[in-house]
Amino acid sequence: MSALGDHVAHASEAVAEGAERRWAIVVMLIIGLLVVMVIFTGVHWAAMPPSRVETVDPRTLHISGEFVENNLGTAVEADGKVVVRLIAQQYSFEPQCLVVPAGVPVTFRATATDAIHGFVVEKSNANVMLVPGFVATFTTTFNKTGERLMPCHEYCGTGHEAMWGRVQVLDANEFLAKSKAGERMSCVPR
Ligand code: CUA
Repeated sequence: MSALGDHVAHASEAVAEGAERRWAIVVMLIIGLLVVMVIFTGVHWAAMPPSRVETVDPRTLHISGEFVENNLGTAVEADGKVVVRLIAQQYSFEPQCLVVPAGVPVTFRATATDAIHGFVVEKSNANVMLVPGFVATFTTTFNKTGERLMPCHEYCGTGHEAMWGRVQVLDANEFLAKSKAGERMSCVPR
């Protein structure tokens, strides 16, 4: 190679290296920003992933165990804890309308029968993924009374965008007056 050719090769190599270096810096800044966002949302909004793994057989959910139809809904357990049990299936939640008290910790226990679903409850940190074969559990407190929307937020098929539930947050005394021992509550019209 001539001296000039050598020089051109070196110069273009330097240009390429400079461009790659700039891109590497940009990419690292983006990754850094995303990590900061994950930490911020996790700490600030207490949005936490489910912490333990509980399994359930999705083929027998409707036949026996905790998730049979007449056990779904909101229960005040013997120890006074409020527990909501629900299932997600293409393309609805069962029950479609949940009743919970305000200002009291509420534990959700939920699973999916057919595909991966999930839900968020408006104006709360309730946000969970429902995977067939696993029981998702989390506890949250709804501070204000009122009705909240609860959309499915995992793409689960053609009917995904029509998959919505509702949550009615009642005054704690009103909720307790309505609840009866051993009964499952929901706000689905009968
Ligand atoms: Cu269920 Cu999307």
